[in-house]
Amino acid sequence: MYLKAENISFGYKKDNWILRNVNISLGSGEVLGLIGDSGSGKSTLCKILSGYETNYNGTVSLDGKKIPSGIYNPVQLIFQHPEKAVNPKWKMKDILNEGHIVSQELLESFGIKENWLNRWPNELSGGELQRFALARALGPGTKFLIADEITTMVDAITQAQIWESILNIVEELNIGVLVVSHDKNLINKLCHDVLHLSDINTG
Ligand SMILES: Nc1ncnc2c1ncn2[C@@H]1O[C@H](COP(=O)(O)OP(=O)(O)O)[C@@H](O)[C@H]1O
Ligand SMILES: [Mg+2]
Repeated sequence: MYLKAENISFGYKKDNWILRNVNISLGSGEVLGLIGDSGSGKSTLCKILSGYETNYNGTVSLDGKKIPSGIYNPVQLIFQHPEKAVNPKWKMKDILNEGHIVSQELLESFGIKENWLNRWPNELSGGELQRFALARALGPGTKFLIADEITTMVDAITQAQIWESILNIVEELNIGVLVVSHDKNLINKLCHDVLHLSDINTG
């Protein structure tokens, strides 16, 4: 299966293009790096790929078909700040199981402890919350994961643990991953291939 973005052009304001004629293709099981300067449009491209931003020119498709809105998106985005992706008034177990019941195996892979499930989001660290966001996003309908600076805020050991878990799971499930970072060392360690946004963006 292929996730493709073709001839993507986008600007937040009229006549101010952030992305211009961007083409990117990600295959199942592939771990592709996307690197670029701060403010160059990486997060914007991530939102377009995962359906959070729909007001663009060009096409995003899965095996040549447009991804329908309103259903579970097989392309799941993970943000840099997991606290922004959770409802602060819900307990972690409810946040986790909102869309589907997350398997025990996934919880264990991400090192999610039983007693974290009864906590509120503000009672967990950023790294712990990010493990929940990942376990929730790697549900049965997920084919691609868009990881936008997802371990930028955690220490090196946590970063290594989280990525080890992700790589094991995506290999097992044949999920394709876009690893977005400004950290070249991390990208080189994790990815089969690397793209520089400035090389694929004519804007
Ligand atoms: N919601 C928004 N409204 C207006 N401008 C935005 C918005 N989000 C991002 N931008 C601008 O778009 C550009 C690209 O941002 P972004 O995609 O977040 O870059 P990156 O993730 O590479 O740092 C930046 O100049 C940023 O200031
Ligand atoms: Mg960004």
